[in-house]
Amino acid sequence: MKRLSHLACTLLSFFCFTALIEARERVSFNEGWRFLNEEAEEAQSSSFDDSQWRTLNLPHDWAIEGPFDVKYNARSGGLPFHGTGWYRKTFEVPAELKNSKVAVEFDGAMYNAHVWINDHFLGARPFGYIGFEYDLTPYLNFGSRNVIAVKLAPEDLSSRWYPGAGLYRNTWLNITTPVRVPHWGTFVTTPTISDELAEVRVRTEILSEGKSPVALQLHTTILDPEGKAVSETSLPLHLLPGETRTYSPTLEVPQPQRWDVTNPVLYTAVTRITDGKLELDRYETPFGIRTVEYRAGEGLILNGRHVRINGVCMHHDLGALGAAVNMRATERQLEIMQAMGVNSIRTAHNPPSPEVLEVCDRLGLLVQVEAFDCWQMAKIPNGYNKFFDAWHERDLRDMIRRDRNHPSVIMWSIGNEILEQGKKDGWKLARHLHRICKDEDPTRLTSAGFNYYPASVKNGLAAEVDIPGLNYKPLAYAEVTAQYPDWHLLASETSSCTSTRGVYHLPIEKYKTHPSLHVTSYDLIGPSWAYPPDIEFRFLAETPSVLGEYIWTGFDYLGEPTPYGGRDNSTNGYWNDDWPARSSSFGAVDLCGFPKDRFFLYQSQWTDVKYKPMVHLLPHWNWEGMEGRTIPVYVYTNAPEAELFLNGKSLGRKKKGADTTALKVAFNNWDEGDYNSPYRLSWDVPYQAGELKTIAYLDGKAVAEKAFQTAGSPAKLALSPDRSVIAADGSDLSFVTIRVLDQNGNFCPLANVQVNFRVDGPGELIAVDNGDSASTESFQAPTRKTFNGLALAVIRSKKGEAGAISLTATASNLTPIHVEIQSK
Ligand code: GAL
Repeated sequence: MKRLSHLACTLLSFFCFTALIEARERVSFNEGWRFLNEEAEEAQSSSFDDSQWRTLNLPHDWAIEGPFDVKYNARSGGLPFHGTGWYRKTFEVPAELKNSKVAVEFDGAMYNAHVWINDHFLGARPFGYIGFEYDLTPYLNFGSRNVIAVKLAPEDLSSRWYPGAGLYRNTWLNITTPVRVPHWGTFVTTPTISDELAEVRVRTEILSEGKSPVALQLHTTILDPEGKAVSETSLPLHLLPGETRTYSPTLEVPQPQRWDVTNPVLYTAVTRITDGKLELDRYETPFGIRTVEYRAGEGLILNGRHVRINGVCMHHDLGALGAAVNMRATERQLEIMQAMGVNSIRTAHNPPSPEVLEVCDRLGLLVQVEAFDCWQMAKIPNGYNKFFDAWHERDLRDMIRRDRNHPSVIMWSIGNEILEQGKKDGWKLARHLHRICKDEDPTRLTSAGFNYYPASVKNGLAAEVDIPGLNYKPLAYAEVTAQYPDWHLLASETSSCTSTRGVYHLPIEKYKTHPSLHVTSYDLIGPSWAYPPDIEFRFLAETPSVLGEYIWTGFDYLGEPTPYGGRDNSTNGYWNDDWPARSSSFGAVDLCGFPKDRFFLYQSQWTDVKYKPMVHLLPHWNWEGMEGRTIPVYVYTNAPEAELFLNGKSLGRKKKGADTTALKVAFNNWDEGDYNSPYRLSWDVPYQAGELKTIAYLDGKAVAEKAFQTAGSPAKLALSPDRSVIAADGSDLSFVTIRVLDQNGNFCPLANVQVNFRVDGPGELIAVDNGDSASTESFQAPTRKTFNGLALAVIRSKKGEAGAISLTATASNLTPIHVEIQSK
C-alpha cells in the first residue's frame, strides 16, 4: 500500500490532497472556510450559494470581534456571542483515497453544533467544550467536490463567563485505513515504576471496517524522550469485519526518566498495525512515567516527594484573542503562571483545549481537568443543565478518553459548585459521575469543588468523590481534616481577591465598588465570599494535609466583572449595571498578562528565595499634590526581611512574621476584625517625589531590590516583544508590550495615551489590549489607549512568508518607535 500524504492547497475555498503516502494523516482542516453570522435557510445544502459569505481560517471566535454593547450580558463579557453562526467549506478529496477512511474532527465548537456533509446530517453536539469526530467516508465524493456545513447556535444567558462563539478550536481531517486505532483509542498506564524499571501498558483498541476478516500484527514501540526506541513488542491481530478489539501489550522501560514538575520528560508509545510488509496504521501516544499518590494526612506525593498544589483556576479565553485557540497564546499564559510559582492549573469549569494539556505536559504543570459547572439544576436560564441528562455521560467519557494519557493530569473534577449540594439525594448523581470516571480511568482520583459547607458534607456529596474540594472555606479546613482524617481535602477555589493593575485608591479602605469601575490594588477587596490571599496562606499553613489551593484566578478573564454589575431581574439575569465594567478583576495578572501586585504576593509564597530571590514594591510613586501625606507602601518578598528607602534614606528594615501588616478584613465568615498579615511588609511613608526603593535580605545579605522614580510627563514609548523571532507559519505570535516613559526613561504609571500601530512586512496586528476591565475599545483596532502606562499589541506571522515584521507605534507629542520581529 502506498503511504498517504497530502498537499493541502487552498485555492478559492477549495482544499485538495495529492498522492497517498502515509499510513495515517492528520491534516489541519482550518483553512478556507466561509462564514455567516446570521440565520440562513438551507445553508446546510451542498448547492447553497455561499460566495458572498466572508472567507476565514479557523480557529475563529466571532464574538471577540465585538462590538461591546450593554445589551449583551456584561456577565459574559458584553460581547455578541449568541445568535446563529454558519460555517461552510468546499473541499476535494482525491480519488486515490477512495479505499481510505476520512473523518472530520472538531476540537470544540461553541455551542450547539449541527454538522452536515454533502447534504447528509452527521449529528449534533451541544456542549461547546468537548471535541468530537464524524466519519465522512460513506458520504464523500472522492475525486470531486464536497461541502461540509456547520451551524452553531449559542444561546443568550448560557454562560456565567465569556464563552466565545464559533469554530473556536482546531479542526482536522483524519485519514486512515479501514483497520485502525479508533478516535482516542489508546490508554497508557504504568502499573509499576521503580528506578530500575517501569512497566508500561498500552491498552489499544483496534477497529476493523474492512470487508473480510484480517490477520495482522500489532507492534508497539516505546520511544524515550530523545526519540530512541527503548522497548518493543508485537502481537498477532485477528479481527472480523466491523469488529473492535482491545489489546493490552505491556512493555518494560529500563531506568525510566520520571515526568515531574521539575523535569517534564515525555515518552511516546508508537502503535503500528502491519500485514507483515505494509504499515496500515501508525498512532502515537505521548505519555509520562510518574507516580502520583495521595496520602491521608500528608497530601500529594509526586514521584515520592511531597508537592503542595500552588494552583490557579483558569477560564479558557485568551484575553484579546477571545476563545480562539492559539498554541503560543496558550503557552504564554502558562509560562506567565509558572513564573508566579504556579505548579498546577484547574481548568475552570470545563474541558480545556487540547493545547492546554499539551503545554502543561511540556512545562511540567499539574492539571485538574474539570467537566461541568452544573448538573441538572440550573444556575442560569440556558446553561448546560438543559443538555445534562442527554449528554453528560458521553461528554464526561469523551473528556477522559481524550485526556487520560497526559501525565500532567492528576485528577478529574466532576463539577464546580453544583447546586445538587443542597439536595438530600444529590450524592446519587455524584456517585454516578464518579463511577463513569473510574470506568474510563481507574488510575486517577475524582474531585469536585463544593461551596456549600457543611451541606455538601451532610448531604453526602463530598464523600462520593476521592478528593473533596472546598471553595472559599479556609476556616473549615481544621474541622474537616480533624473529622475526616482519611480525606484528601483540596482548597479547590480560594481567595477571589479583586484588583485592577496599577490602580491605588487612598485612603486604604474596604469598599464595595468605586466610581472608577476599577478596584484598588492593595489586595484587600473581594466579594462577600472571598478572602485576601493572606488568610488562605495562614489556614493552609495550619492544615498541611490539605493538598493545596487553586486561587480564583490566574488571569483576568472576559465576563464576571465582580464587584461591578448585578442581577437585573427585568432582563432575566443580564448583568448590565455599572457598564462598561465587562471583565473580571480576579486575576493575579490582567487580561493582557501584565502582572498585578498580587502576582508578586503569590510569588513571594510560592517561590524559594534560595533559587530565585524576589522583592516587589507598591504602589507607584507618582502622587503629585499629595506631598507630605501618608502613602501606605507594601513590600512582597520571598526573603525573610526587607528595607525601604526614600530618596536614599532608610525608612527601616522589617522582618516577615515579626513585623506584621494590619489588613482591614471585613469578609463574610471572618469576625476577627483586622488581620495582622505576616505575609506583607509595610511602611507608612509621607509622600515626597523621588526614588522609592526596597532591598530584600537573606542572612543579612542583599539578595533582591526594586526601585522606581517619580516620573515626569510622558515623552516616549518603549516596545518590548516577548519573542523577536517567530515561526512563519501563520499562527505563531509575538506579544509586544508598549510602555510609556518620561524624558529620562522612567515608567509613567498613570499615562493613558492613545497609541497607533502600523505593521509592515510579513505579519499582521491581530489584537490590542491594555488590561482595563472597563474599556469598550475594540480588541481588533490598530490603536489602543495605554492603561496606567501599558498596552499590548499581538503580532501574527503570515504563513510561508519569512522576513522582518516591523511594528511602529506612534502617539501625539511622543517620539514614535519601531521594533522588528523576524519571521522564519
Ligand atoms: C465562585 C465560582 C467561580 C466564580 C467565583 C468568583 O463561586 O465557582 O466560577 O464565579 O466564584 O468569585
